[in-house]
Amino acid sequence: MASASSPAPVAAHGVAPLRAGQGYSFILRRLHSLSGIVPVGAFLFEHILISNSTAITGPDAYARQVSFLANLPLVFFLELFGIWLPILFHALYGFYIWYRGDGNTVAYPWSGNWMYTAQRWTGGIAFFYIVWHTYTMRFTGNDLHDNPAGSFAKVQAEVHNPWLLAFYVVGLICASWHFAYGIWLFAAKWGIVSGDKAQQRLLRVCLGFFMLLAVVGLVSLYTFRERFQEPPSPATNIVDTRPATATNGRPVQ
Ligand code: HEM
Repeated sequence: MASASSPAPVAAHGVAPLRAGQGYSFILRRLHSLSGIVPVGAFLFEHILISNSTAITGPDAYARQVSFLANLPLVFFLELFGIWLPILFHALYGFYIWYRGDGNTVAYPWSGNWMYTAQRWTGGIAFFYIVWHTYTMRFTGNDLHDNPAGSFAKVQAEVHNPWLLAFYVVGLICASWHFAYGIWLFAAKWGIVSGDKAQQRLLRVCLGFFMLLAVVGLVSLYTFRERFQEPPSPATNIVDTRPATATNGRPVQ
């Protein structure tokens, strides 16, 4: 028998889709969301899984990769418009979203709420890490675009300082989590993957991707710190704390 009373409202759950009709805010939210995947996420993928992982093969392979990147045409403008400005936009608008407290989960189930918070903190920590990492690697000490051969030694000198190594590990894990879970958020918000089952499957794929980024990044850091001891690069801005007995230029594994 049909009831005359209206049905009880069903609590929506999951990630709210980005909806049109909110003026500039809608466009900026879409741009923020998209910039997390392209170009910022694409750059992170390249940086961890392609460029830095070549260090695992040794200083020569790493120098060749740095030299390849440094010699790309109009490299300064590629960096400016393809990396720095998009990261700056994504980060500043991300802090604004955080400050405004705009929810990305509708009914705040425990795991969604936890991940919502983690998405903000990992982004915030990654921001300070990225600013510091870009400043020291790109704008101080040995200029790696002029001297790619010194690139392995420059990173090595940094990660021999235990505090800096800890900062690298935290920055790597935060950026990897933020990007991997961000892919899931992106797919949910743009309606690319809808339906509980499909979203759960995608979440597992994203967690696997997080593990891949984190493990490859950690193995690269281990390589910089423990293997292939290189002579210190000229004019490095980091105090070199490596043991004096290291065998220069030869693997010590
Ligand atoms: C390592 C560089 C970064 C990458 C690869 C990245 C990537 C992403 C991706 C893919 C998303 C999901 C897009 C979406 O929500 O639809 C996202 C979301 C987000 N990002 Fe980033 N991001 C980075 C840095 C940052 C920084 C530095 C902040 C500053 C706080 C930040 C704040 C946020 C926030 C608040 C969200 C969630 C937006 C929402 O819930 O609507 N991100 N990011």
